Amino acid sequence: MARLFFTFIISLFLTPFIFTTPSNAAYNVVSFGAKSGGQTDSTQAFLKAWAAACRSTTASTIYVPKGSFLVKAAVFRGPCKSTIKIMIDGTIVAPDYRSMGNSGYWILFIDVDKVAIFGGTLDAKGAAYWACRRSGKSCPIGARSITFNWANNIVVSGLTSINSQLSHLVINSCKNVAVRNVKIIAPDQSPNTDGIHVQGSTGVTITGSTIGTGDDCISIGPGTRNLWMEHIKCGPGHGISIGSLGKDKKEDGVQNVTLTNSVFIGSDNGVRIKSWARPSNSFVTNIVFRNIVMTRVQYPIIVDQNYCPNNQGCPNQSSGVKVSQVTYRNIKGTSRSQAAMIFNCSSSNPCRGIRLQDINLTYMNKAATSTCRNVHGTRSGVVVPRSCV
Ligand SMILES: *[C@@H]1O[C@H](CO)[C@@H](O)[C@H](O)[C@H]1NC(C)=O
Ligand SMILES: *[C@@H]1O[C@H](CO)[C@@H](O)[C@H](O)[C@H]1NC(C)=O
Ligand SMILES: *[C@@H]1O[C@H](CO)[C@@H](O)[C@H](O)[C@H]1NC(C)=O
Ligand SMILES: *[C@@H]1O[C@H](CO)[C@@H](O)[C@H](O)[C@H]1NC(C)=O
Repeated sequence: MARLFFTFIISLFLTPFIFTTPSNAAYNVVSFGAKSGGQTDSTQAFLKAWAAACRSTTASTIYVPKGSFLVKAAVFRGPCKSTIKIMIDGTIVAPDYRSMGNSGYWILFIDVDKVAIFGGTLDAKGAAYWACRRSGKSCPIGARSITFNWANNIVVSGLTSINSQLSHLVINSCKNVAVRNVKIIAPDQSPNTDGIHVQGSTGVTITGSTIGTGDDCISIGPGTRNLWMEHIKCGPGHGISIGSLGKDKKEDGVQNVTLTNSVFIGSDNGVRIKSWARPSNSFVTNIVFRNIVMTRVQYPIIVDQNYCPNNQGCPNQSSGVKVSQVTYRNIKGTSRSQAAMIFNCSSSNPCRGIRLQDINLTYMNKAATSTCRNVHGTRSGVVVPRSCV
């Protein structure tokens, strides 16, 4: 295990860490009063360990040993004086959803810089919360498992997140975030359990991660720039989605997003761009989806600009979101529906610069189909189904 952590430390992009041993300014949550067993509330112990690390003028490490630690909704706030590494061997478990409060968050980092989390499991025990929502009773608003707001230079590596109430990992208004080798697990039908949600953030990379959940594996919201996703395994879930965008009239667009060397297995969508059928100044541009294998995916390639759930707020309107410069290259595999490629673009803002290259998607060993509305672009190489673009 120690060896494993050593490898992690070496792989850190923050060089100062390499020269600090864990015994230097190390804060074990147990010495602040945390108790394993999953029954004793350890929230204050975690917050005290954080406060000590945050005050430290040298790089410090917070250590969570093996065992199960009950932590209620907690805010880990910066700015801090130096870099903080959080090494987790144990599992952090959430309290009963009724005692989580209505903040919408479980583990929340605000205004931090140079924080790295290694290992650990977050078990939000979301099943009771989902059951409450399904029953139609009034339920709390629910909590995202781990959120970073206004955080820069963050690493999340080797973390496992199980059964979030809502999204598992949220990156909001951040710069330079590396998510590596995370594992995200929730059942197929668990409501709104997005895997990773990125919004208002620049320079996020998500690599080597396995995501199976009840909503989007990765959802990409307004104001996302320079997002790199590689070696992602998605499914079950709703796929990797840019959107929904354009709900608001004035909204930041999404640009420079790449997904490469990834697989989708049994998900509802593969790569999706989705926008509300409402007026908006938002946009999606410079997007690349390449080297992707689809296995039994319902809609492997889809642009849906007519999103208007329950026909409320936007009947008979068209999306103002401008979708342009989207490349689909080397995408192969099987579709669970005949409609393997759907471009349902806005009548007022047709999709432009759509490029299809080397696509082969089949439906039950038959030809799949592609549908096009309001789309302009080019194709090259073999494109199956024969594209209407
Ligand atoms: C696009 O994003 C990548 C990271 O995903 C970055 O390396 C590159 O510089 C960005 N390109 C532009 C033009 O900003
Ligand atoms: C495209 O959008 C229109 C309008 O919402 C809808 O009626 C149609 O079914 C969609 N087509 C596909 C292939 O999803
Ligand atoms: C939308 O358009 C359809 C067909 O033109 C029409 O029957 C319906 O009344 C319209 N709905 C609204 C809310 O304008
Ligand atoms: C597309 O893939 C199918 C299934 O793997 C294969 O049989 C077929 O030859 C491929 N078509 C082309 C044009 O490469």
